[in-house]
Order: sequence, then structure tokens, then C-alpha cells
Amino acid sequence: MKKNYFLILVPAILSVCFTGCVTGKKNKSVAVSSIQPGAVWPDDKGNHVQAHGGGIIKIKNVYYWYGEERRQGLDSNTRYVSCYTSNDLTNWKFEGDVLKLTDPEHLGRRWVLERPKVFYNAATNKYVMYLHIDDASYKLASVAIAVSDAPDGNFRYVKMFRPLGHESRDIGQFIDDDGTAYLVFEDRPFGFRIAKLSADYMGVEKEMSLVKEHMEGGAIVHYDGLYYAIGSALTGWKANPNKYATAPSLEGPWSDFKDIAPPMSNTYGAQSTMMIKVTGTDTSTIIFMGDIWRPRTQWDSRYLWMPLQIGGGKLWLPEPKPWVIDIKTGKWKYSINGITN
Ligand code: GAL
Repeated sequence: MKKNYFLILVPAILSVCFTGCVTGKKNKSVAVSSIQPGAVWPDDKGNHVQAHGGGIIKIKNVYYWYGEERRQGLDSNTRYVSCYTSNDLTNWKFEGDVLKLTDPEHLGRRWVLERPKVFYNAATNKYVMYLHIDDASYKLASVAIAVSDAPDGNFRYVKMFRPLGHESRDIGQFIDDDGTAYLVFEDRPFGFRIAKLSADYMGVEKEMSLVKEHMEGGAIVHYDGLYYAIGSALTGWKANPNKYATAPSLEGPWSDFKDIAPPMSNTYGAQSTMMIKVTGTDTSTIIFMGDIWRPRTQWDSRYLWMPLQIGGGKLWLPEPKPWVIDIKTGKWKYSINGITN
């Protein structure tokens, strides 16, 4: 009997500790004290963050995290993109589903909306969302665009196309230090491409590179004078050893690809989706953002975020452990009190 109580009580206590203090306000909000790779990530209401295959932009001091909304109980004909906001990259407030689409191109059952990425265009003052749109067999291989006047929606569907006429499945976003916006897209016959968006972001205008390496989950960061690109192999939802290459310019030449983590770990079960650069008063930290997919229980897919060891042409993903970041200074450290589940 005692044992049974233990089994019920201990996880309950741990989960309260993990989600941090619950304030006494009317609208109970949950505070998270560290980033815990692989764990349930509670939003402000205590629900697991649903922003899979996501992307993040910073507007003034606010981070916006957009991703695939995969919570249980959704209408199976509709696809949803969620939006969360944060000041510290650790505590995320759910702003709602900012895009709800019901098969806008008559693609049929099990049509696909994946990897939404939002860019803010200062000239037009619009938020432009790119997403991978496809039919159930992934033959359409196109991007679609949805636009909003505000970062938290609502986004309205505009059009779909193949960027520069090429196949495009997984997409990634990259905003360079000078603010120029690029789309990274997987072009199955050739590899992956990095292309500049048009002035109003409503189209893909100029190819910077065709990287002849077959990679998905493409992400780029500009750090200390070098561009680093990471991506995963093409193994669907199954994790594989993600790799990176470097180039002095987005036009290349790109180096050979090398492992970002011990290959046996299959990137600790994660697949890349983005890298975020946090530049503070003291230093810049580059965060690897990855998805730990659970294909049969997608709503329970997790995230692996870890600061990268990066510099001098090398990039390495340390073994995941709970950590904290100070957005002001840009410094991070391991969390000693972190409890993972
Ligand atoms: C992955 C891809 C995901 C999804 C999945 C479907 O390789 O990164 O976004 O498309 O395949 O199997």
C-alpha cells in the first residue's frame, strides 16, 4: 500500500517542483526555472509547449516561437500553427493558434503543413509566415505563405509555390546580422538550397548556395565571421546523426559535413530545426533547437535545446542537461537544481 502512495505522490511532487512556483494570482501562471532538454516543457498555463518544427524571431525584447500545433483533440482536417511569447526563452506564454487552415489547395486527406517560420518585414510592417505544404504522399513539395499585421495573428493564407521552381520539403529560416532574410529548403534531387527572400518577403528571389548534401531540418547561424549550417539526414521521424559545415559566405564554398554530436547518440534523439544567437552584454550564446519526435504521439514530441560549443570552424552539441540562460548578459550555465522527467 505504502509503495502505491509513493508511486502517486513522488511524481506529483516532482512535477510541481519542475513547473516551478505557482503564483497565487487568479489566472494561475506557471514559472519555469530552467531549460530541460527532452522534458515536458510547460507553458504559462502548465500545458506542454506545442511548437514543433518551429522557428523563433525577436521583436524588440520579445521572442516569438511559432511551430506545429499538435495537441490532442484538434479537427483532423485542419492544420494549426501556434505562437508563444517569452522574454527569457525559458518561460513561454501561449498566444493561441495564429493560423488555422483547412486544406486551402484541395490536397486531400492527411495533407501536410509543417515547419512554419515567420519573418517580420519592417518595410511593409507585415509578418510573413512560410510553411511546408504538401499532400499525404509528400509529392507536392511546395512552400506556402500566410500573412498577418501582428505577430500574434491572425495569419491569412495567401499562396503556394515552389521556391525558384525547385522541390521544397523541410524549410528553415535564417536572418543574418544585417537583417537580410533567407529561406533554407530541402530540394530532394539536389541537396539543400539557401535563398534570399524578395524585398517584401512575399517570394524567394535569389539563390545564394546549392549545398549538394541531402539534408533536412536545415538551420544556419552567423558566428564570429563564419556561417555554420546544420541539418539532419533523411530518415523521417527517426533521429540520425546531424551534421554541420561552415563557409566564409552564404555563397560558399561550404566545407565537408562533420558530426555535431557522437554519431551513436543520433543527436541525442533530436532533429535540428533552428539555431538562435543570443547576444548579451558579455557574450553571445548559440542555442541548438531540435525536435525529439514521437510520431505516434506527436502531441508529446519534445524539444532538445542546448547551447552549442562553437567557434574557429568547429561546432559541437554537448550532452543535454538542464541549463539556464541570462538574456541580458548572454551567458548560460548548467542548472544545478534541474529535475528532468
Ligand atoms: C522528417 C521531417 C519532418 C517530417 C517528417 C515526416 O524528416 O524533418 O518535418 O516531414 O520527416 O516523415
